[in-house]
Amino acid sequence: MSGAQYDFHVGITRDVDDRFINLKDLVNFNMGVFGQSGSGKTYTLRRIIQALHRANVTTVVIDTQGDMKYGAHYDAVGPGDFAHFQFAYHGANTCLSPLEIDTLSDSGGYYPAIQRAIKAVEYFHPALGYRQRGVLESMLEETYTRFGILRDKPETWTREPPALSDVVDTIDLKLKELYTGLSEDILTKCFKLRREVAALSGKIDLMDEVIGSEDAAGRQEAELEMTGAQYDALKNRLEDKIAALSNEAGKYVEAEARRGVGNAPSGKTREWLELVRMTIKDMLNTSLFTGANGFHPIEGKINVVDIRGLSDNHQQTVVYLLLGQVFKDGIATCRQLNAGVPRLVAVLDEAKIYKAVCEDSMSPFPRIVTEGRKFGLGALLGAQTSSQVSKEILSNIAVQFVLSMPSNELPAVKRVFGINEKQMTALIPKSDGCLSVNSSEYEHVHLWQWDPPR
Ligand SMILES: Nc1ncnc2c1ncn2[C@@H]1O[C@H](COP(=O)(O)OP(=O)(O)OP(=O)(O)O)[C@@H](O)[C@H]1O
Ligand SMILES: [Mg+2]
Repeated sequence: MSGAQYDFHVGITRDVDDRFINLKDLVNFNMGVFGQSGSGKTYTLRRIIQALHRANVTTVVIDTQGDMKYGAHYDAVGPGDFAHFQFAYHGANTCLSPLEIDTLSDSGGYYPAIQRAIKAVEYFHPALGYRQRGVLESMLEETYTRFGILRDKPETWTREPPALSDVVDTIDLKLKELYTGLSEDILTKCFKLRREVAALSGKIDLMDEVIGSEDAAGRQEAELEMTGAQYDALKNRLEDKIAALSNEAGKYVEAEARRGVGNAPSGKTREWLELVRMTIKDMLNTSLFTGANGFHPIEGKINVVDIRGLSDNHQQTVVYLLLGQVFKDGIATCRQLNAGVPRLVAVLDEAKIYKAVCEDSMSPFPRIVTEGRKFGLGALLGAQTSSQVSKEILSNIAVQFVLSMPSNELPAVKRVFGINEKQMTALIPKSDGCLSVNSSEYEHVHLWQWDPPR
């Protein structure tokens, strides 16, 4: 295949030369478009998305405004080039699981999975306190343990992860334990014994009924099925089980009697557990985190993810988990390391959304930006000001478009991008931008125009 598909036209320079960017030349696969409201960021992002699509790059486009889905504002693609995903409280067609364990990337594994789940809950419910966080952490661990996934046994990390509802079950067990002063063990034993007693009595009752009946043939058949000795053994077993049950129940009563005499569970622990339970119940109620259609981008498509209908906190939770999934899928589908061309690019047009999810370097977004290249991963960002993007992220953006900015932003633009006021004021909104590729000097470009005009 010729490299032409990787070359895309971004406009004409002031000397009226056509300006191209070749995806194969980039030091990383991150691009940023900065500019004030109405300067043409979204327009530019859509152009780049189409260029990426032509280069067979999968894109995951997070849509917070409804202006990214397929429509007339795309001129070089058709409806078949898109996959649409919707996160909504009703009518969602996809979901995200907070408890998946990434076993592929260097920074994956058990501990990061727990931290990631906690982070997701915190984005969902930012007021979660330090203590509740601790309670949540131990409940997550207990849940994994119930599913045979153990911290120090990496071979168990690939097992089917629990669902969020399983964490609620874990908390319920814990609460029951606290309320009754009994370990779950005794209760489980009692329930098991009760079931066994019921089953044995059922069998014996049935036998007694047949033996006592007038039906001679039936009696004979029953005798064939069970000898007298077997019948006696059955009765003995029943007695043993009843004795065992009575013993366990005795322990239950004893513990119950001691409860409140210095053995009362800490009211605080109970309170924290209940709060955590409520938060997770809330998460379940949104139906964003449960279901069979887990989010996976479709290769070769423009995957538009509509999160318009969600509240701010829920948008952040979804974006956080979604980018984690993109990173994970990106690594899982990588067939050649350091291939030199992008394969999967996450597109975020709203700085306020990813600002929150880039807080620490363990977050998936900074990891896509800083570690993604060797797997062919990148990000395409839109932001109104440079301050919406951290220094670390900014220094990892190979392609930078700076569109028109208000005059009060110009000192910051000078400081951050090194573009002087004269260059900036020469930019025509919705038409021009300063472009830098691989840290080159910024060049004034009439964006998306051809010489001669087409
Ligand atoms: N290079 C361009 N050529 C022609 N039309 C453009 C160009 N750039 C932007 N426009 C048009 O200008 C309008 C505003 O552009 P756009 O929506 O991309 O701005 P924005 O920077 O994303 O604004 P906001 O921050 O409010 O989202 C749109 O109608 C868009 O079609
Ligand atoms: Mg916009």
